[in-house]
Amino acid sequence: MGSMDAFIRAVPKAELHLHIEGTLEPEMVFELARKHHLSLHYSSVEALRQAYCFADLQSFLDVYYQGASVLRDESDFHALTSAYLRRAHADGVVHAEIFFDPQTHTARGVPFEAVIGGIRSALAEGKQTLGITHRLILCFLRHLSAEDAMTTLEQALPHAGAITAVGLDSSEAGHRPAKFASVFARARSEGLLAVAHAGEEGPPEYVAEALDLLKVSRIDHGVRSEEDPALLARLVRDRVPLTVCPLSNVRLRVFDRMEDHNLKRLLHGGLCVTVNSDDPAYFGGYVAENYLAAYRALGLSRADIVQLASNSFEASFLPRGEKDAWLRRVRELDAD
Ligand code: HPA
Ligand code: ZN
Repeated sequence: MGSMDAFIRAVPKAELHLHIEGTLEPEMVFELARKHHLSLHYSSVEALRQAYCFADLQSFLDVYYQGASVLRDESDFHALTSAYLRRAHADGVVHAEIFFDPQTHTARGVPFEAVIGGIRSALAEGKQTLGITHRLILCFLRHLSAEDAMTTLEQALPHAGAITAVGLDSSEAGHRPAKFASVFARARSEGLLAVAHAGEEGPPEYVAEALDLLKVSRIDHGVRSEEDPALLARLVRDRVPLTVCPLSNVRLRVFDRMEDHNLKRLLHGGLCVTVNSDDPAYFGGYVAENYLAAYRALGLSRADIVQLASNSFEASFLPRGEKDAWLRRVRELDAD
Protein backbone atom coordinates (compact mmCIF):
# COMPACT_ATOMS: atom_id res chain seq x y z
CA MET A 1 0.00 0.00 0.00
CA GLY A 2 1.18 3.52 -0.85
CA SER A 3 1.19 6.39 1.61
CA MET A 4 0.98 6.08 5.36
CA ASP A 5 -1.99 8.45 5.25
CA ALA A 6 -3.94 5.97 3.16
CA PHE A 7 -2.82 3.04 5.32
CA ILE A 8 -3.85 4.86 8.53
CA ARG A 9 -7.33 5.55 7.15
CA ALA A 10 -7.77 2.05 5.75
CA VAL A 11 -6.53 -0.09 8.62
CA PRO A 12 -9.49 -1.50 10.59
CA LYS A 13 -9.65 0.05 14.03
CA ALA A 14 -11.83 0.22 17.13
CA GLU A 15 -12.56 3.55 18.81
CA LEU A 16 -12.77 3.15 22.60
CA HIS A 17 -12.76 6.72 23.96
CA LEU A 18 -15.44 8.83 22.33
CA HIS A 19 -17.98 11.05 24.07
CA ILE A 20 -21.03 11.17 21.83
CA GLU A 21 -21.77 14.71 23.07
CA GLY A 22 -18.26 15.62 21.92
CA THR A 23 -19.17 14.83 18.30
CA LEU A 24 -21.66 17.73 18.18
CA GLU A 25 -20.36 19.85 15.29
CA PRO A 26 -21.06 23.63 15.25
CA GLU A 27 -23.31 23.17 12.19
CA MET A 28 -25.55 20.82 14.16
CA VAL A 29 -25.55 23.19 17.17
CA PHE A 30 -27.05 25.88 14.91
CA GLU A 31 -29.45 23.45 13.22
CA LEU A 32 -30.83 22.18 16.56
CA ALA A 33 -30.97 25.68 18.05
CA ARG A 34 -33.14 26.72 15.09
CA LYS A 35 -35.32 23.61 15.42
CA HIS A 36 -35.96 24.22 19.12
CA HIS A 37 -36.16 28.05 18.90
CA LEU A 38 -33.14 28.56 21.17
CA SER A 39 -30.92 31.60 21.00
CA LEU A 40 -27.16 31.13 20.87
CA HIS A 41 -24.42 33.42 22.14
CA TYR A 42 -22.60 33.11 18.80
CA SER A 43 -23.51 34.84 15.55
CA SER A 44 -22.29 32.11 13.19
CA VAL A 45 -20.89 28.60 12.87
CA GLU A 46 -17.45 30.15 12.31
CA ALA A 47 -17.73 32.32 15.45
CA LEU A 48 -18.63 29.25 17.49
CA ARG A 49 -15.75 27.23 16.08
CA GLN A 50 -13.37 30.12 16.88
CA ALA A 51 -14.42 29.86 20.53
CA TYR A 52 -12.92 26.34 20.69
CA CYS A 53 -9.67 27.54 22.21
CA PHE A 54 -9.06 26.01 25.62
CA ALA A 55 -6.67 26.62 28.51
CA ASP A 56 -7.39 23.35 30.34
CA LEU A 57 -10.01 20.63 30.88
CA GLN A 58 -12.45 22.87 32.79
CA SER A 59 -12.48 25.64 30.18
CA PHE A 60 -13.38 22.98 27.60
CA LEU A 61 -16.08 21.39 29.76
CA ASP A 62 -17.81 24.77 30.21
CA VAL A 63 -18.18 25.10 26.41
CA TYR A 64 -19.00 21.40 25.95
CA TYR A 65 -21.89 21.39 28.43
CA GLN A 66 -23.26 24.57 26.89
CA GLY A 67 -23.11 23.03 23.41
CA ALA A 68 -24.92 19.90 24.62
CA SER A 69 -27.87 22.02 25.79
CA VAL A 70 -29.30 22.09 22.24
CA LEU A 71 -29.90 18.32 22.41
CA ARG A 72 -33.55 18.10 23.43
CA ASP A 73 -35.37 15.09 21.98
CA GLU A 74 -34.80 11.53 20.87
CA SER A 75 -34.34 12.46 17.20
CA ASP A 76 -31.51 14.88 18.18
CA PHE A 77 -29.59 12.04 19.84
CA HIS A 78 -30.26 9.85 16.82
CA ALA A 79 -28.95 12.50 14.39
CA LEU A 80 -25.88 13.13 16.56
CA THR A 81 -24.98 9.44 16.74
CA SER A 82 -25.66 8.80 13.03
CA ALA A 83 -23.38 11.68 12.02
CA TYR A 84 -20.58 10.30 14.21
CA LEU A 85 -20.92 6.79 12.75
CA ARG A 86 -20.67 8.10 9.19
CA ARG A 87 -17.48 10.01 10.03
CA ALA A 88 -16.00 7.08 11.96
CA HIS A 89 -16.74 4.74 9.05
CA ALA A 90 -14.83 7.05 6.69
CA ASP A 91 -11.87 6.77 9.09
CA GLY A 92 -11.81 2.95 9.09
CA VAL A 93 -13.60 2.47 12.42
CA VAL A 94 -15.32 -0.94 12.45
CA HIS A 95 -16.18 -1.04 16.16
CA ALA A 96 -17.05 1.85 18.50
CA GLU A 97 -17.41 1.87 22.28
CA ILE A 98 -19.29 5.07 22.95
CA PHE A 99 -19.58 7.14 26.13
CA PHE A 100 -22.72 9.04 26.95
CA ASP A 101 -23.32 11.43 29.86
CA PRO A 102 -27.01 11.06 30.88
CA GLN A 103 -26.74 13.57 33.76
CA THR A 104 -25.90 16.38 31.32
CA HIS A 105 -29.36 15.86 29.83
CA THR A 106 -31.58 14.60 32.64
CA ALA A 107 -30.58 17.67 34.70
CA ARG A 108 -32.19 19.79 31.92
CA GLY A 109 -35.38 17.72 31.96
CA VAL A 110 -34.56 15.50 28.97
CA PRO A 111 -35.83 11.97 29.78
CA PHE A 112 -33.16 9.27 30.12
CA GLU A 113 -35.23 7.23 27.62
CA ALA A 114 -34.94 9.93 24.93
CA VAL A 115 -31.16 10.00 25.30
CA ILE A 116 -30.55 6.26 25.20
CA GLY A 117 -33.36 5.63 22.71
CA GLY A 118 -31.93 7.99 20.09
CA ILE A 119 -28.39 6.71 20.55
CA ARG A 120 -29.46 3.05 20.38
CA SER A 121 -31.61 3.38 17.26
CA ALA A 122 -28.72 5.10 15.43
CA LEU A 123 -26.26 2.42 16.59
CA ALA A 124 -28.59 -0.34 15.32
CA GLU A 125 -28.88 1.47 11.97
CA GLY A 126 -25.10 1.92 11.84
CA LYS A 127 -24.61 -1.80 12.27
CA GLN A 128 -27.08 -2.51 9.44
CA THR A 129 -25.89 0.08 6.95
CA LEU A 130 -22.18 0.54 7.79
CA GLY A 131 -21.37 -2.76 9.53
CA ILE A 132 -20.03 -0.94 12.62
CA THR A 133 -20.41 -2.94 15.84
CA HIS A 134 -20.73 -1.08 19.13
CA ARG A 135 -20.87 -1.04 22.90
CA LEU A 136 -22.39 1.69 25.10
CA ILE A 137 -20.64 3.05 28.21
CA LEU A 138 -22.62 5.18 30.67
CA CYS A 139 -20.39 7.85 32.23
CA PHE A 140 -21.01 9.49 35.59
CA LEU A 141 -20.08 13.16 35.94
CA ARG A 142 -17.49 13.22 38.72
CA HIS A 143 -18.12 16.88 39.65
CA LEU A 144 -21.62 15.80 40.81
CA SER A 145 -22.28 13.76 43.95
CA ALA A 146 -22.04 9.99 44.37
CA GLU A 147 -25.75 10.05 45.28
CA ASP A 148 -26.58 11.67 41.94
CA ALA A 149 -24.50 8.99 40.18
CA MET A 150 -26.37 6.24 42.08
CA THR A 151 -29.75 7.73 41.04
CA THR A 152 -28.52 7.75 37.43
CA LEU A 153 -27.39 4.13 37.69
CA GLU A 154 -30.84 3.16 38.99
CA GLN A 155 -32.48 4.96 36.07
CA ALA A 156 -30.23 3.01 33.72
CA LEU A 157 -30.80 -0.45 35.17
CA PRO A 158 -33.97 -1.17 33.12
CA HIS A 159 -31.69 -0.64 30.08
CA ALA A 160 -28.74 -2.58 31.49
CA GLY A 161 -28.93 -5.09 28.64
CA ALA A 162 -27.95 -2.29 26.24
CA ILE A 163 -25.11 -0.97 28.41
CA THR A 164 -21.75 -2.75 28.67
CA ALA A 165 -19.88 -0.64 31.20
CA VAL A 166 -19.92 2.42 33.40
CA GLY A 167 -17.30 5.15 33.18
CA LEU A 168 -16.27 8.34 34.97
CA ASP A 169 -15.64 11.69 33.29
CA SER A 170 -15.76 15.51 33.74
CA SER A 171 -13.53 17.58 36.07
CA GLU A 172 -10.81 15.26 37.39
CA ALA A 173 -8.89 17.46 39.84
CA GLY A 174 -10.32 17.14 43.33
CA HIS A 175 -12.79 14.40 42.36
CA ARG A 176 -10.87 11.23 43.04
CA PRO A 177 -12.12 7.80 42.00
CA ALA A 178 -12.70 6.78 45.66
CA LYS A 179 -15.76 9.09 45.71
CA PHE A 180 -17.55 6.62 43.39
CA ALA A 181 -16.41 3.28 44.88
CA SER A 182 -19.89 2.24 46.05
CA VAL A 183 -21.60 3.30 42.78
CA PHE A 184 -19.10 1.27 40.76
CA ALA A 185 -19.49 -1.71 43.15
CA ARG A 186 -23.24 -1.59 42.57
CA ALA A 187 -22.75 -1.36 38.78
CA ARG A 188 -20.40 -4.34 38.84
CA SER A 189 -22.87 -6.34 40.95
CA GLU A 190 -25.41 -5.69 38.16
CA GLY A 191 -23.02 -7.26 35.63
CA LEU A 192 -21.58 -4.07 34.16
CA LEU A 193 -17.87 -3.62 33.39
CA ALA A 194 -16.01 -0.45 34.42
CA VAL A 195 -13.64 2.12 32.93
CA ALA A 196 -12.62 5.55 34.24
CA HIS A 197 -10.89 8.72 33.11
CA ALA A 198 -7.76 9.00 35.27
CA GLY A 199 -4.32 10.53 34.92
CA GLU A 200 -5.41 13.12 32.34
CA GLU A 201 -5.03 16.18 34.60
CA GLY A 202 -5.12 14.19 37.82
CA PRO A 203 -2.09 12.51 39.40
CA PRO A 204 -0.93 8.89 38.92
CA GLU A 205 -2.48 8.01 42.32
CA TYR A 206 -5.91 8.42 40.71
CA VAL A 207 -4.98 5.77 38.13
CA ALA A 208 -4.02 3.30 40.87
CA GLU A 209 -7.18 4.18 42.78
CA ALA A 210 -9.36 3.54 39.71
CA LEU A 211 -7.78 0.08 39.40
CA ASP A 212 -7.91 -0.75 43.12
CA LEU A 213 -11.28 0.75 44.13
CA LEU A 214 -13.32 0.91 40.92
CA LYS A 215 -11.87 -2.31 39.42
CA VAL A 216 -11.68 -0.81 35.95
CA SER A 217 -10.77 -2.87 32.87
CA ARG A 218 -8.96 0.04 31.24
CA ILE A 219 -7.91 3.62 31.93
CA ASP A 220 -9.15 6.55 29.83
CA HIS A 221 -6.19 8.86 29.09
CA GLY A 222 -3.79 7.67 31.83
CA VAL A 223 -0.89 9.58 30.30
CA ARG A 224 0.28 10.94 33.67
CA SER A 225 0.96 7.33 34.75
CA GLU A 226 4.42 7.93 33.33
CA GLU A 227 5.28 9.93 36.45
CA ASP A 228 5.18 6.76 38.58
CA PRO A 229 7.50 3.93 37.42
CA ALA A 230 5.90 1.36 39.75
CA LEU A 231 2.46 2.16 38.32
CA LEU A 232 3.81 1.88 34.76
CA ALA A 233 5.25 -1.54 35.56
CA ARG A 234 1.87 -2.60 36.95
CA LEU A 235 0.03 -1.41 33.79
CA VAL A 236 2.46 -3.40 31.63
CA ARG A 237 2.30 -6.52 33.82
CA ASP A 238 -1.50 -6.54 34.04
CA ARG A 239 -1.98 -5.48 30.39
CA VAL A 240 -4.23 -2.58 31.45
CA PRO A 241 -5.04 -0.64 28.28
CA LEU A 242 -4.82 3.16 28.07
CA THR A 243 -7.26 4.94 25.73
CA VAL A 244 -5.05 7.85 24.70
CA CYS A 245 -6.43 10.90 22.84
CA PRO A 246 -3.54 12.84 21.28
CA LEU A 247 -5.36 15.87 19.82
CA SER A 248 -7.40 16.27 23.02
CA ASN A 249 -4.25 16.24 25.15
CA VAL A 250 -2.68 19.03 23.11
CA ARG A 251 -5.89 21.12 22.89
CA LEU A 252 -6.40 20.84 26.67
CA ARG A 253 -2.73 21.59 27.35
CA VAL A 254 -1.86 18.26 28.96
CA PHE A 255 1.10 18.49 26.55
CA ASP A 256 2.17 21.82 25.03
CA ARG A 257 2.90 20.38 21.59
CA MET A 258 2.22 17.05 19.86
CA GLU A 259 6.00 16.59 19.68
CA ASP A 260 6.02 16.44 23.49
CA HIS A 261 3.34 13.71 23.74
CA ASN A 262 4.45 10.52 25.53
CA LEU A 263 2.37 8.12 23.40
CA LYS A 264 5.39 6.63 21.62
CA ARG A 265 7.34 6.13 24.84
CA LEU A 266 4.37 4.44 26.49
CA LEU A 267 3.81 2.21 23.44
CA HIS A 268 7.50 1.24 23.22
CA GLY A 269 7.51 0.71 26.98
CA GLY A 270 5.13 -2.19 26.45
CA LEU A 271 1.81 -0.61 27.43
CA CYS A 272 -1.36 -1.48 25.56
CA VAL A 273 -1.81 2.06 24.17
CA THR A 274 -4.77 2.87 21.90
CA VAL A 275 -5.52 6.05 19.88
CA ASN A 276 -8.92 7.74 20.11
CA SER A 277 -10.62 11.07 19.40
CA ASP A 278 -12.34 11.93 22.74
CA ASP A 279 -14.44 14.94 21.59
CA PRO A 280 -13.61 15.26 17.89
CA ALA A 281 -15.95 18.19 17.12
CA TYR A 282 -14.01 20.27 19.65
CA PHE A 283 -10.43 19.05 19.25
CA GLY A 284 -9.87 19.28 15.50
CA GLY A 285 -10.31 15.77 14.19
CA TYR A 286 -11.76 12.28 14.23
CA VAL A 287 -9.77 9.15 14.92
CA ALA A 288 -7.70 9.03 11.70
CA GLU A 289 -6.58 12.64 12.33
CA ASN A 290 -5.40 11.53 15.78
CA TYR A 291 -3.33 8.68 14.32
CA LEU A 292 -1.95 11.04 11.64
CA ALA A 293 -1.05 13.81 14.08
CA ALA A 294 0.81 11.36 16.35
CA TYR A 295 2.46 9.67 13.38
CA ARG A 296 3.75 12.98 11.96
CA ALA A 297 4.86 14.60 15.22
CA LEU A 298 6.37 11.54 16.88
CA GLY A 299 7.74 9.75 13.82
CA LEU A 300 5.76 6.57 14.37
CA SER A 301 6.61 3.62 12.13
CA ARG A 302 4.20 1.49 10.15
CA ALA A 303 4.78 -1.25 12.76
CA ASP A 304 3.69 1.24 15.46
CA ILE A 305 0.46 1.99 13.56
CA VAL A 306 -0.23 -1.74 13.17
CA GLN A 307 0.40 -2.20 16.91
CA LEU A 308 -1.96 0.68 17.81
CA ALA A 309 -4.74 -0.68 15.57
CA SER A 310 -4.23 -4.19 16.97
CA ASN A 311 -4.27 -2.83 20.53
CA SER A 312 -7.63 -1.15 19.85
CA PHE A 313 -9.22 -4.58 19.30
CA GLU A 314 -7.28 -6.26 22.10
CA ALA A 315 -8.45 -3.52 24.53
CA SER A 316 -12.08 -3.63 23.33
CA PHE A 317 -15.00 -5.42 24.98
CA LEU A 318 -15.51 -7.63 21.90
CA PRO A 319 -15.54 -11.41 22.47
CA ARG A 320 -12.24 -13.25 21.85
CA GLY A 321 -13.35 -14.65 18.48
CA GLU A 322 -14.24 -11.23 17.06
CA LYS A 323 -10.99 -9.73 18.38
CA ASP A 324 -9.00 -12.48 16.65
CA ALA A 325 -10.85 -12.01 13.36
CA TRP A 326 -10.03 -8.26 13.34
CA LEU A 327 -6.41 -8.87 14.39
CA ARG A 328 -6.08 -11.16 11.35
CA ARG A 329 -7.59 -8.47 9.08
CA VAL A 330 -5.07 -5.91 10.38
CA ARG A 331 -2.18 -8.32 9.66
CA GLU A 332 -3.54 -9.08 6.18
CA LEU A 333 -3.79 -5.39 5.28
CA ASP A 334 -0.25 -4.84 6.58
CA ALA A 335 1.03 -7.66 4.37
CA ASP A 336 -0.68 -6.26 1.20
N1 HPA B 1 -12.00 14.43 30.27
C1 HPA B 1 -12.96 14.50 31.17
N2 HPA B 1 -14.25 14.63 30.87
C2 HPA B 1 -14.59 14.71 29.59
C3 HPA B 1 -13.65 14.64 28.60
C4 HPA B 1 -12.28 14.48 28.94
O1 HPA B 1 -11.37 14.40 28.12
N3 HPA B 1 -14.33 14.75 27.43
C5 HPA B 1 -15.64 14.86 27.72
N4 HPA B 1 -15.81 14.84 29.05
ZN1 ZN C 1 -12.74 11.64 27.50
